[in-house]
Amino acid sequence: MEYNYDFKYFKESADYILDKIDFKPEIALILGSCLGTLSEEIENPVVIDYKDIPNFLTTTVESHAGKLILGELSGKKVVCMSGRFHYYEGYDFEQLVAPIRVFHLLGVETVILTNAAGAVNTSYEPGDIMIIEDHIKLTGASPVRGKNIEEFGPRFFDMTNTYTEEYRKLAKQVSDRLGMNLKEGVYFYCTGPQFESPAEIRAIRVLGGDAVGMSTVTEAITAAHCGMKVLGLSLISNMAAGVLNQPVTTEEVDEVAQSSALNFKVLLREIIKEM
Ligand code: HPA
Repeated sequence: MEYNYDFKYFKESADYILDKIDFKPEIALILGSCLGTLSEEIENPVVIDYKDIPNFLTTTVESHAGKLILGELSGKKVVCMSGRFHYYEGYDFEQLVAPIRVFHLLGVETVILTNAAGAVNTSYEPGDIMIIEDHIKLTGASPVRGKNIEEFGPRFFDMTNTYTEEYRKLAKQVSDRLGMNLKEGVYFYCTGPQFESPAEIRAIRVLGGDAVGMSTVTEAITAAHCGMKVLGLSLISNMAAGVLNQPVTTEEVDEVAQSSALNFKVLLREIIKEM
């Protein structure tokens, strides 16, 4: 399918949101599986259902809430997506640009992307947090495929500093201060919804992936296109397929994500404070 979105298409979504707030959000937060509870800590929240926003997408994953929450967190004006969109839900890659482009039009300059991911790197353990240093996406189309919208960015664009170095350093500093031992590594994107096969995980390891997951990368590419800064953090929820002699289960992913959520939130709040 071909998508011929134009600038106006995204502007309509942004205008609807701007109409409901009297401030400019600086930071966008896209929270992954079970990390969404941070959105409950946003002060003076303005809550907007995805389904009410013109030209926006609607979420289909049960554990994802489907709301935009705008307000204040750690002294910063934020817009938070509780529930994100994934390719495995049935969207085409080209449709997945919507949130980031709309946030850009709200005036957001920084995007924080979080996810739950499986550890490919065998020195990682469930409960670890990994700063995303870079990503690998070898499957499917680019989210910015199709007619380029110059208002957002150029046709061809650089991806060498997609995960902003300054923020990676900041995350490391904050975590050291909190006594948390953060990893830093490469996030390997897989489309899902099936977890990977053990042979795929072995291949991903050879290719340079440290963690594997089904989100984040489409958002990071869209953000790079329109020149936004990105911080990506993965919560390691399980060892990837074949690392241990046991299957990968959603229950394990959710359980670890939930039990590590508190630590993760403390870290995020401190990082946001210093951004
Ligand atoms: N693979 C892909 N996505 C995931 C995983 C995994 O092992 N764990 C959490 N999200």
